[in-house]
Amino acid sequence: MQVFSTPEPLKSYISNNRKHGKTIGLVPTMGALHQGHLELIGSSRQSNDITVCSIYVNPAQFNNQRDLIEYPRDLKQDLKKLKALDCQAVFCPTDDVMYPGEPVLSMDFGHLEKIMEGSHRPGHFKGVALVVSKLFHMVQPDTAYFGEKDWQQLVIIKRLVEDLNFPLEIVSMPVIREADGLAMSSRNARLTPQQRGVANELHRTLLLVKQQIENRTAIEMALKLGKQYLDRVPLITMEYLEVVRAYSLDHPVEELGREPLSICIAALLGDVRLIDNVQVFNE
Ligand code: PAF
Repeated sequence: MQVFSTPEPLKSYISNNRKHGKTIGLVPTMGALHQGHLELIGSSRQSNDITVCSIYVNPAQFNNQRDLIEYPRDLKQDLKKLKALDCQAVFCPTDDVMYPGEPVLSMDFGHLEKIMEGSHRPGHFKGVALVVSKLFHMVQPDTAYFGEKDWQQLVIIKRLVEDLNFPLEIVSMPVIREADGLAMSSRNARLTPQQRGVANELHRTLLLVKQQIENRTAIEMALKLGKQYLDRVPLITMEYLEVVRAYSLDHPVEELGREPLSICIAALLGDVRLIDNVQVFNE
């Protein structure tokens, strides 16, 4: 496994492989790899000759300095896990490499970033889009892989690729869950045992709302029931619970038809912020 920390040798490695007709898959991550990431790596390994995993905790997407400092990091373990999966290349740059100067470019995703994560984490998606664009330029993958846990991020990245004609395909993979339903996330490592004990209530809330919608309960009422349910759970402070149209993120959804919807949630357990989503009518 080759480990790169600057883009130049990575670019030579990529162009050398391209010369030999090899396809490239990119799995962008912020490290602290869990099973969800490993599934993305596995999927890329299956469909590409070369898989590049990037590990970079991108300061530009953190609006909260403390969250950035406390974001879990474990490069040694990450490299071990990637090696075990035969990932061919890892790109782990420093801040100076990714941001040699203060960027002046700022991307605006209009209504897509005005809700949910966008409204609770101002500037978050601008930072995500910036680093993902840089990675796309540096790695020039045929395919890039993202988890569906960050549903809004996925929709925005697809839009970024479409609007800027990045010549690559985005592949997404379903949320991977612990046995009790908690969505796997690098942030789960920061939960206390007490917080971990109730963290799966986010998923239960989503399932409750999903069931109500499938039973044709009006969305407003389904959300109200979900909020009431989560309100009764100790240690969890909900930030939002929303139903949006799955691909346009339009909301509020007033008419309940059969088109794909996404139910999205964010909540704080102490200072650990978790997000999750489930899909409705989206098989
Ligand atoms: O989903 C993540 O881990 C990050 O937002 C990403 C896509 C790696 C960009 O930093």
